[in-house]
Amino acid sequence: MNWHLECTVNGEPVRREVPAACTLLDFLRDHLGLTGTKGACLEGECGSCTVLLDGQPVCSCLVLAAQVQGREVRTVEGLAREAGLSVLQEKFIETGAAQCGYCTPGLLVAGQALLDEDPRPDSRELRTGLEGNLCRCTGYTSVVEAVRLASGKKELE
Ligand code: FES
Ligand code: FES
Repeated sequence: MNWHLECTVNGEPVRREVPAACTLLDFLRDHLGLTGTKGACLEGECGSCTVLLDGQPVCSCLVLAAQVQGREVRTVEGLAREAGLSVLQEKFIETGAAQCGYCTPGLLVAGQALLDEDPRPDSRELRTGLEGNLCRCTGYTSVVEAVRLASGKKELE
């Protein structure tokens, strides 16, 4: 059975027929060609598939495409500005927070959600905001540093 899905993705209205069992992750990647969002565990454990749904970070592997009917989705592709990369994306490059890069889209989305909610998070808020996103390369120090720099804070308290 197919579902006639209407939603907004990265500010653009989208209409597609999708199988009822299609996940949001597969919808974004396979139906819209937005392959920035990565699937890894497919069990809600790693956060690599994180996107914003109505501004809140969710694991797109655990959400059915049909559940985003009438709602707003923002993916890593939607973080960049017309002028170029977002501040957070630039700070990820600056600090070397992207290594193999598999976790990076999810971390960028989760980091942006954190900054949208609180532009100047303290150390605990920052680490808590990113705790659902696993990275096996960076040890997290450079990721935390990138978000701190994007927040404009001189140091974390
Ligand atoms: S792929 Fe969705 S949480 Fe790991
Ligand atoms: S940069 Fe490789 S898993 Fe995070």
